[in-house]
Amino acid sequence: MSQPHLRTVVVLAAGEGKRMKSALPKVLHPLLGRTLLGHVLAAAAPLAADRTVVVVGHGADQVRAHLAEIAPEATPVLQAQQLGTGHAVRIALDAAPDATGTVVVINGDVPLLRPETVTALVKAHEGAGTAATVLAAEVPDPAGLGRIVRDATGRLEQIVEERDATPEQRALREINAGIYAFDVVRLRDALGKISTDNDQGEEYLTDVFGLLNDAGEPVAVHVAADHVETLGCNDRVELAGLRRLLRDRVNEAWMRTGVSILDPQTTWIDVTATVERDAMIDQNTQLQGATVVGAGAVVGPDTTLIDTTVGAGATVLRSHAVGAEVGPQATVGPYAYLRPESRLGRKAKVGTFVETKKATIGEGSKVPHLSYVGDATIGEHSNIGAATVFVNYDGVQKHHTTIGSHARTGADNMFVAPVEVGDGAYTAAGSVIIADVPPGAMAVARGQQRNVEGWVLRKRAGTPAAEAAQRAREGASGGAAAAREGEPIHGGVETVGEPSGAGDTATE
Ligand code: UD1
Ligand code: CA
Repeated sequence: MSQPHLRTVVVLAAGEGKRMKSALPKVLHPLLGRTLLGHVLAAAAPLAADRTVVVVGHGADQVRAHLAEIAPEATPVLQAQQLGTGHAVRIALDAAPDATGTVVVINGDVPLLRPETVTALVKAHEGAGTAATVLAAEVPDPAGLGRIVRDATGRLEQIVEERDATPEQRALREINAGIYAFDVVRLRDALGKISTDNDQGEEYLTDVFGLLNDAGEPVAVHVAADHVETLGCNDRVELAGLRRLLRDRVNEAWMRTGVSILDPQTTWIDVTATVERDAMIDQNTQLQGATVVGAGAVVGPDTTLIDTTVGAGATVLRSHAVGAEVGPQATVGPYAYLRPESRLGRKAKVGTFVETKKATIGEGSKVPHLSYVGDATIGEHSNIGAATVFVNYDGVQKHHTTIGSHARTGADNMFVAPVEVGDGAYTAAGSVIIADVPPGAMAVARGQQRNVEGWVLRKRAGTPAAEAAQRAREGASGGAAAAREGEPIHGGVETVGEPSGAGDTATE
């Protein structure tokens, strides 16, 4: 067995990406869960490099900050002026004076590159002991790319940029993907010899191949099986094209593991998301960030999940969730908005037009309709009436509401936090709950009803309402009710009868 090879990865990310027409450096544009740079670093990750150097220039501060977040082990190296890819690699190697073994160079704008392809390139290079190996691909449209020029026996002679190429060379459809493996000693030596004698007056990394070849050093071409992997990104139209290709690749991979995707063209799954077997993803759905969809869960249509976990067998229908946890067999939506730290237990329900935030909703508990639940803990098997608001904000601070287990709160309640409703307690419809409710109590906190008899007949005489009322009174009591007309408005409080339904009125 040979010694393990020491490896340095160099990512070229100093260019401006002029044609993106963006305040954001090109390599920071997002593509299904990672930036372009993030994709390239992920493709290089299995190489287990001893050192990763990222050459930064345009938007250096932004790129450095991003690197600190996604790859703190990588070393950013500044290329103040973009004098060419050869110049960029020279600067990177200056920052790694002790590098030995293999240097892998990757253009920062080839996000569809697969880790297997980079690994295969490097293995082939190290196995053959060549001085330099370039990843190449046959493409339908080679416009703007460097061409692989081979001799009569098929060996690599040089790489020629399109603008410096002869018409015959331009006709070649085998291109340089911008991904290479080099022996560091011979690379350093050749970089010291490249000129700027080309159409752009830049130091071309690609010239290293011609120089090494002329010096009798072995150089090689490794052909990518799938040319799509080598596609670069120069403008936003190309970026959208890459996004579609990556979408299809991701969706196909999930479908092959046993996930149903009903409409792959409108399903966008970040490379960082996970979907378990027998999950069903319906149309117009985005699974973003660290989202996990459990086995047999149904998500969509028209749903966006960001950093959200959906338990096995749960359902999320036409909803938006960020940083939420949906328990197994729980149901969400249609039209729910789960904000960060919403935690739904097993078989919990958050229904239609419900917003939750920092809310733990216990096993089997339900918030079925038109409610806001913020800064709250709800126990198990409780039911929250329709149109309930957890009043969590006093204008300065947020406060917590606790609802116990097996509680039944009435429709149209306000829980003015901090407040606690005990286990098994009830609250009456329309209540504004400002004080704790002991376990098992029924809380009623609303104005008494007054019926002002005959008001419509007096004040709205002649209207359809008055006529309807008149007919009803005659029908109900053969005209006797009319005798009550003209009675003064009840000044006091009407007696309240027995509760007419769960969560309705009661006094004790
Ligand atoms: C380069 C190759 C070309 C290949 C193509 C593949 C050269 C001379 N040409 O061309 O053969 O077909 O990639 O996409 O290398 N960069 C720096 N500093 C610089 C210049 C560039 O960091 O001074 C970075 C860019 O940010 C980019 C990468 O290097 O990520 C490639 O540069 P770019 O200008 O896009 O090279 P191409 O003209 O596309
Ligand atoms: Ca390019």
